[in-house]
Amino acid sequence: MGDARLLQRAEEVVRFGTPELRALIADMEDTMHALDGAGLAAPQIGVGLRVVIFGFDFNPRYPEAGSVPYTVLINPVLTPLAEEIEEGWEGCLSVPGLRGVVPRWRHLRYEGFDPEGRRIDRTVEGFHARVVQHETDHLDGILYPMRMRDMSRFGFTDLLFPDQAGASE
Ligand code: NI
Repeated sequence: MGDARLLQRAEEVVRFGTPELRALIADMEDTMHALDGAGLAAPQIGVGLRVVIFGFDFNPRYPEAGSVPYTVLINPVLTPLAEEIEEGWEGCLSVPGLRGVVPRWRHLRYEGFDPEGRRIDRTVEGFHARVVQHETDHLDGILYPMRMRDMSRFGFTDLLFPDQAGASE
């Protein structure tokens, strides 16, 4: 947070299945796994392309969350499917050591492409929907604190969740 590249709109990917795209995704996977992230967007490693990755079976940073299938999502388009808003705790590898409560759409359809250019079209809810909204926000220069409505629920992870493994990030 504070790097101007995190506040810019990322560009659409126009060529799929290229060595450059595969190398970018491998780099993002290494970064996400090294930091126990639930997801990562390309601008977080300084690349201004509309590429996000997310997914985990169990994540020590979000022990209450159910599993989310590992997904590479390119040029995502999100459509909320109901009015319902859900509040939940989020952190971000670009905002280390902090957590905040963020309102998100509970029911979501997301569309986009995989690295080979095949269409992805899913309807999801809950934490899966939250992660996709968080990562896609990165492509539009939005960090989760910019979505918060109650700054009294923003703080240091090790104070908010003292028992949580990996809480210090
Ligand atoms: Ni993030």
